[in-house]
Amino acid sequence: MDHTQPHTEAMPRPNNLDAFWMPFTANRQFKSNPRLIVSAERMHYTTIEGRRILDATAGLWCVNAGHKHPRIVEAIQRQAATLDYSPAFQMGTPYAFDLAARLAAMAPGHLDHVFFTNSGSESVDTALKIALAYHRSRGEGHRTRLIGRERGYHGVGFGGISVGGMSANRKAFGTMLSGTDHLPATHSLEHNAYSKGQPEWGAHLAEDLERIAALHDPSTIAAVIVEPFAGSAGVLLPPKGYLERLRQICDTHGFLLIFDEVITGFGRLGTPFAGDYFGVVPDMMTTAKGITNGAVPMGAVFASKDIYRQIIDSAPEGTIELFHGYTYSAHPLACAASHATLDVYQEEGLFDRCAALAPYWEEAVHSLKGEPWVIDIRNLGLVAGIELEGIPGKPTKRAFEVFLRCYDKGIHIRTTGDILALTPPLIIDKAEIDETVDTIRATLREMATRSTQAAAE
Ligand SMILES: Cc1ncc(COP(=O)(O)O)c(C=O)c1O
Repeated sequence: MDHTQPHTEAMPRPNNLDAFWMPFTANRQFKSNPRLIVSAERMHYTTIEGRRILDATAGLWCVNAGHKHPRIVEAIQRQAATLDYSPAFQMGTPYAFDLAARLAAMAPGHLDHVFFTNSGSESVDTALKIALAYHRSRGEGHRTRLIGRERGYHGVGFGGISVGGMSANRKAFGTMLSGTDHLPATHSLEHNAYSKGQPEWGAHLAEDLERIAALHDPSTIAAVIVEPFAGSAGVLLPPKGYLERLRQICDTHGFLLIFDEVITGFGRLGTPFAGDYFGVVPDMMTTAKGITNGAVPMGAVFASKDIYRQIIDSAPEGTIELFHGYTYSAHPLACAASHATLDVYQEEGLFDRCAALAPYWEEAVHSLKGEPWVIDIRNLGLVAGIELEGIPGKPTKRAFEVFLRCYDKGIHIRTTGDILALTPPLIIDKAEIDETVDTIRATLREMATRSTQAAAE
């Protein structure tokens, strides 16, 4: 089978689905009825049967400029034919230096330095390690505690799951990092259901950081990491004033504030980063995904000038200042993909396009209020979470059925728990927004009719 050719017709299925241990997937269920994708272009995937599926989740929140952008494809091809690989330890490429400078110029505040990784999980572990190294180099090595948040998602490394707050991602993996603690999640169905944009209620939840600081003593805390809004846990938005208050408390006690912008970075809210949108600048920012439009794995940690200078200047001249890095940090193909991606974002005005479409998106997704089982709808930028009432005793089952039925109807959505999450490429148009929302509406109604009929039988 020639995998390099565009697929316009049905392709044969692989003979063996057994060997690939699929990530975050119900392997047995999937393999009994696989959903195989063979190509993609702009807003659509093509399945192995030759069906088109509208991608309402930008892959995994990463393909912000749409699939297979010719500019990005061409940059990767050209780079592969010029310099396939070169280490970033004790040598470098012009592409990496140029990219770091370009990213730093985009970032808010004094986030002037960029450490390259290959994924969001690596970015998170890198930022947590930098936080510890920073305090140690200032003679405050007693600051070792890392504070995350319940229902937070920071990838799957041991650092990320330790500060993360999704129990399914933690329970099988022992005690993880010691010395972590968690803020409460910010979402409340009781107070904030159907808020449009940032909810009014809940800024006081940031005060829990004072409680945690008092419990452990502020001098033991190195950093606080939160997603500006929690994506993977089902689109949980920060209440008005909440992030500002976290920033104040961190400043009072000398905690570094890390924003995990792995999904919020690169235009998802209509601004380069969520920190820009909320007007709060962290001390570090973790990114990945949209940095290359998902085309080549890459992540980046943005650190403030103060953090960088402290660690670099306190080490003796001629020694490695931070014993950390990856074989593929600043991989040439990823750098090329990222440069082209940033060009596309800029030239096609995709962040502005996101901001301009956001009100239409908001009205469209909120039109699902009153549909069967819908108990909350949340939105910001081009993101929406639609929370369903779960089937008693069978959490996730209802939302997953919506996912399967939407896929059969030609729309790809994501689910987490009983929440449907939508995060389309920023190139989506109004007709495609309507198609997505109408398909979800039709699916919910059809499931409700079926369940009424089943109850009557
Ligand atoms: C906020 C956040 N942090 C970290 C990650 C992990 O990224 P990756 O899957 O690239 O390791 C994700 C992935 O969805 C994320 O949403």
